[in-house]
Amino acid sequence: MLNELEKIKKEFSDSIKTAKDSQSLEDLRVKFLGRKSELTSVLRSLGTISQEERALVGQKANTLRKEIEARLEEIKHNLNQKTGGEVSIDHTLPGLPLSLGKKHPITKTIQEIVGIFSLLGFQVATGPEIETDYYNFEALNFPPDHPARDEQDSFQIDNGKYLLRTQTSPVQIRVMEKTKPPVRIISPGACYRRDNPDASHSPMFHQMEGLAVDTDIHFTDLKGILGEFIHQMFGKEIKMRFVPSFFPFTEPSAEVAISCIICGGKGCPTCGRSGWLEVLGAGMVHPNVFKKVNYDPKKYTGFAFGMGVERIAMLKYGISDIRLFYQNHLQFLNQF
Ligand code: PHE
Repeated sequence: MLNELEKIKKEFSDSIKTAKDSQSLEDLRVKFLGRKSELTSVLRSLGTISQEERALVGQKANTLRKEIEARLEEIKHNLNQKTGGEVSIDHTLPGLPLSLGKKHPITKTIQEIVGIFSLLGFQVATGPEIETDYYNFEALNFPPDHPARDEQDSFQIDNGKYLLRTQTSPVQIRVMEKTKPPVRIISPGACYRRDNPDASHSPMFHQMEGLAVDTDIHFTDLKGILGEFIHQMFGKEIKMRFVPSFFPFTEPSAEVAISCIICGGKGCPTCGRSGWLEVLGAGMVHPNVFKKVNYDPKKYTGFAFGMGVERIAMLKYGISDIRLFYQNHLQFLNQF
């Protein structure tokens, strides 16, 4: 029996050299320590031999068993270190949640505004962010020295040959140059002005332009369309107010305000205690603009409006600082 143990020992130390992975280790464990292994049958047959022999063989067999176990453990440990550890996987556990991206609140707001105007029959048009003075100002009836230009201090490129557009209104001109009436477009996009950043100003921001031209467009159409938009965007209970204003490319012109969505019109810090919040500029297209694009001002009329997307988003979501939109803090962005 002692010979047998010696044989098992040798056989094991030969076989262990070829063990390369946890499966072959497991096979060896079954072969040398399992119920049907030779070592087990030696231990089982101890009862059949004399007492002196039993003590000796028993002791040797147990020592061999421990050696084999220790060696298997050791090799398993080394293998794990090499492969970085074989992780036992519970296939029944639920998967890790996929973190999906989110739309930026400005994108969301643009899409919501576009959605409302699409249903009112408006198509999306876009134009370049690098413009010429002609499209950004001149064709929109801003004469070269007109003080209305001062409100829209622009970033000049190539010594004034180009500029970053200060408004989305140049898209009106680009669309009318290429299309005959009827025209009904909205145009979202980035604009740039040389403003110092603060809670309500940013040198880059977004606008949404609207333009409708046909043979029979009246100021009431403008009021009707904007009223519908405001109700859909902010709620049926919101009131709208037109205040006379000035834009070179519309006549008459108006600033449109809504009843304060925070205090319901009673007066609070958000609305400067006036009960009203300005949300956009609008008016009837000026005949001089039609002349620039070869539309007959006697035949056609139209309305135009322009709103700041950030302003709409800030009111809708209760955001107090425009700079939050551009800082890319996930804590802020994940709320939308
Ligand atoms: N473009 C104007 C602005 O940025 C807004 C506007 C657009 C006003 C269309 C009237 C009509 O101030």
